[in-house]
Amino acid sequence: MPEATFEEKLAGYSLRRDPFGPDYEVPMAGRKAEWREIQERVDQAMYRRGNDIVVILGDYGMGKTYTLWQMHEHYKNVHELWVTKPIPLLSSESTSRFAADLIGRTLRQGIGYGQAIDLIRQADDSWQESVDNPAVLDLLRNLASEEPATRDKAIDRLARNRDNLIAQEILFALQFVLAAAGRRAFLWLVDEFEYIMILTSTKVSQLVNTLRDIYDHQPEVELRYGPERSAKIILTLASSPAGWELLQKLTRDVVRKTGGAGVVPFAQRIPGANIITLAPLNRDGCHDLIAWRLAKNRTGDIPGEPLIPYDEGFVDLVLEVAQGVPRRILAYATVVLLGALEQGLPRITVDAARSILDKEGFLNKA
Ligand SMILES: Nc1ncnc2c1ncn2[C@@H]1O[C@H](COP(=O)(O)OP(=O)(O)OP(=O)(O)O)[C@@H](O)[C@H]1O
Ligand SMILES: [Mg+2]
Repeated sequence: MPEATFEEKLAGYSLRRDPFGPDYEVPMAGRKAEWREIQERVDQAMYRRGNDIVVILGDYGMGKTYTLWQMHEHYKNVHELWVTKPIPLLSSESTSRFAADLIGRTLRQGIGYGQAIDLIRQADDSWQESVDNPAVLDLLRNLASEEPATRDKAIDRLARNRDNLIAQEILFALQFVLAAAGRRAFLWLVDEFEYIMILTSTKVSQLVNTLRDIYDHQPEVELRYGPERSAKIILTLASSPAGWELLQKLTRDVVRKTGGAGVVPFAQRIPGANIITLAPLNRDGCHDLIAWRLAKNRTGDIPGEPLIPYDEGFVDLVLEVAQGVPRRILAYATVVLLGALEQGLPRITVDAARSILDKEGFLNKA
């Protein structure tokens, strides 16, 4: 008899494929407290005046990107908000064009030109009175044009923009458009903030100044045009704790050098409650993380036995070895699964799982 294929072996565990690869479209395991806090923060921000920043901190693999995608899924159905898909803070483009790059990618990938066009078409014309940059006004009008050639030219201009100031003006103009289309807030999801760690401190300052300019813009807009003419921004930044700490440190340095004069750096104005830390998963979270991934990739239902081919005890083992970090839990579950398939084990006892992890070098005791 020919050797069973990988799929045939997996079918022995009632699985269709490796269940533990990257997947952001699965229900949230654990994290009830964190998710509640995130919703509280966003809900409150929606009704508070002035822009807001929400920070999601978590070590590598703790679920930051996943959480941002869950926010997108959740808030895309809330009409008062206009939510982006998560985009990374930096791209390979030059970071001295930070604003142009970030806002450009937000429109292209975070929102999509099609959605931006829909929004401008939904809005009443009131926004046009508030945009004083004629080039930006034309650009947005042309973007919504029924004439395909005009529209394409506007998209092309938008895509080619490398000018930081124009990019900011476009963002501000869109905030007017949003309000004119009945939206209260723009929920802007930005991932991988910790990449500031690879920048020189000059570049980090430029970047932070840009964020601060955007953040501080709203009060001025209210003064000039009255309240509720422009949708506020709720900027959500996901970062590793180390990346965020670096920002705090640079902020402290600036304050020291300037004697605290001038504008207080914006990072210091973010209330502690707006900083939400993703903790390691607890046992229930770890159990659900594994069980729900298995369920999604089953060949058929196995009522009452959500962990097959693993034992209940595997949850405790993997939780400890992976220290509650979701990506590591998933990685170890894969290692054990592949090892068990190779050995042709019908079920994976805790001892078998431990011995596979040991053999693969994951149980290095200090
Ligand atoms: N609460 C959760 N429920 C279900 N799956 C989760 C949960 N948290 C994380 N995951 C899964 O764990 C994996 C790692 O998560 P993710 O990529 O979001 O981590 P990260 O913090 O962004 O990592 P990095 O620091 O490398 O960017 C993903 O496959 C994700 O689907
Ligand atoms: Mg990530």
